[in-house]
Amino acid sequence: MAKEKKTWVVPEGQELTEMDRIILSFQHRGKKVPTRDLIKTPEQIDGIRKAGVLNTAVLDAVAEMIRPGISTLQIDELVYNFTTKHGGIPAPLNYEGFPASCCTSVNDVVCHGIPSAREILEEGDIVNVDCTTILNGYYADASRMFVIGGKTEPRWQQLVDVAWQCLKIGEQVCSRPYVFVGDIGNAIANHAHKNHMSVVRDLCGHGVGLEFHEPPDVEHYGHKGTGMLLVPGMTFTIEPMINLGHWEVCSDPDDPTGWIVLTADEEASAQWEHTYLMTENGVEIITH
Ligand code: MF3
Ligand code: CO
Ligand code: CO
Repeated sequence: MAKEKKTWVVPEGQELTEMDRIILSFQHRGKKVPTRDLIKTPEQIDGIRKAGVLNTAVLDAVAEMIRPGISTLQIDELVYNFTTKHGGIPAPLNYEGFPASCCTSVNDVVCHGIPSAREILEEGDIVNVDCTTILNGYYADASRMFVIGGKTEPRWQQLVDVAWQCLKIGEQVCSRPYVFVGDIGNAIANHAHKNHMSVVRDLCGHGVGLEFHEPPDVEHYGHKGTGMLLVPGMTFTIEPMINLGHWEVCSDPDDPTGWIVLTADEEASAQWEHTYLMTENGVEIITH
């Protein structure tokens, strides 16, 4: 019995393409398949690509200036100024009450850290800077880790490296179309666990492009063959959050906005993110 809704519909009188046939066969077997609106048109893909180019330039500018002694607010100011100077809008600003242009998540902050003049970066801090750029209405989303001063504790460096490897492993799973979101999560979690680290469960990757967050949810754990089928034309992020300790997170009790997410056990957390386009030959990185 099919357990998923029949979301893939071919308009009456329209001839089936090869892609329709493949998707319909998965749907018939009860798998979760996309809706047609998640398949971007060539024009939309072009727009998302351009947003990706600007988003990458923003992160490159951050990489140039990030160093011991600066505040995370200085990063935020750079992101705002650079993005708007090039005709873009930082998507986080005022998004559901988020008060800044990017997220800066230091050490035991898992994600959604809020830049602050009081937060001065020190040598050995590990910082995720997460930027999302809107350009001509199209979105691209990516984040990188920075080791402040270039050196940190070996265990923290290992965390940063394993989180990066997790992103690359997720990407490798997507080296062909018609894989499932659960295939990505399964491979990522296996790699994290092999390294005695854990995968955050409360936050996930997502479709992106016409909006900040679209279906599907891209969980970084789970079972092969579950979650949505990824087909050519879909644009989505992979953004594993990996913890040195336990996967459990909590919101920062001192943050009145409720946005800042911390590890519950106060151990460090690391994350990398790219926006991807699924093609007939597997994913392409849109935020290089
Ligand atoms: N960029 C984050 C993501 O990867 C979302 C941040 S929401 C914000 O999905 F409001 F905090 F910016
Ligand atoms: Co992001
Ligand atoms: Co994202």
